[in-house]
Amino acid sequence: QHPELDRLLQAYELTSKMYHFLLKNTEHGKPAMEYLRSRGFSDKIIDQFQIGYAPNRWDTIVQFLEKRSFDPVEMEKGGLISPRHEGDGYVDRFRDRIMFPIWNRNGKVIAFAGRILGEGQPKYLNSPETKLFNKSRTLYNLHHAKTSIRKLRQSVLFEGYGDVISAWEAGVQNGVAAMGTALTEHHATMLKGLCDEVIICYDGDRAGQAAALKNFPLLENAGLHVKVALVSDGMDPDDFIRQYGGERFQRQIIESAVSTVKFKLIYLKKNHILQEEEGRIAYSREALNVIAPLSSPTEREVYLREVSAEVKVDFETLKQECNLLRQSLQ
Ligand code: GTP
Ligand code: MN
Ligand code: MN
Ligand code: MN
Ligand code: MN
Repeated sequence: QHPELDRLLQAYELTSKMYHFLLKNTEHGKPAMEYLRSRGFSDKIIDQFQIGYAPNRWDTIVQFLEKRSFDPVEMEKGGLISPRHEGDGYVDRFRDRIMFPIWNRNGKVIAFAGRILGEGQPKYLNSPETKLFNKSRTLYNLHHAKTSIRKLRQSVLFEGYGDVISAWEAGVQNGVAAMGTALTEHHATMLKGLCDEVIICYDGDRAGQAAALKNFPLLENAGLHVKVALVSDGMDPDDFIRQYGGERFQRQIIESAVSTVKFKLIYLKKNHILQEEEGRIAYSREALNVIAPLSSPTEREVYLREVSAEVKVDFETLKQECNLLRQSLQ
């Protein structure tokens, strides 16, 4: 029995409904609605994900909660409103932003992510951590996705809210995202409780690829099998789906996800010019560092053959070097 928490949950629920209403039914919400439409958000998706709009005013939510007798001190602690910089009283935390409710795994709203309309900083403003909301234990969309994750024994990990939403519409309904912060052991454990395999589907830019690489050990240590989806350079999954459609996303991105070893090789290869001898030698060396530690001889052979073709070095030569490296590792 936590009456304070129940009350805060109630406030989040009502506020989320209010933002959704303001987006869909008021003049204030028009520009936000136009922005969402220009990005391809359908009415159905806006409803399913309870997307809303926080108006460009100081006290919409302050007054809304006050009228319903919510204690402002609790609401401030709960992250819905902020104290005024000068003088007494409170102001809305979110103003002139597209509002994405964040749910816990039981489908209760526990926080918001607010996106600016168009360009500007910060692009996303999140609720602070509260008694309800612990970023390192929250995965966006898990309440929707858990059924599909259990059924498929697999989940897809995205970077952004928009990616999760577009993928959902494209039929990939086992998608979740960390809250824009780093993936944690808790997240990995939560996923391991529902499935055996995770497909990392991060943005196709340098930052996204580096983040994917960083997350392998975290997920693998939780006992999950990891694959990586390769999103076209400079695009994120949302962009890809908007441009090429959901079917092509499933086929070309999700179903074509590669092993972590393959991903590492692709990642390393990008730093070298394979038309040049030095590039081929340097790449071989780095590739061998990835391949040599693999315990399965078959796996080693498969990747060695690929590298052999890429760097135009005889397979036996590479194998020899690989075995030498293995011995030095033991
Ligand atoms: P769109 O530009 O709306 O398509 O967003 P995106 O999700 O593609 O954004 P991006 O790839 O830049 O970032 C991925 C995720 O990181 C976002 O979904 C957020 O969760 C988080 N993120 C990005 N920018 C910010 C920021 O300014 N503040 C916070 N707190 N999180 C951010
Ligand atoms: Mn609705
Ligand atoms: Mn990104
Ligand atoms: Mn992105
Ligand atoms: Mn995006």
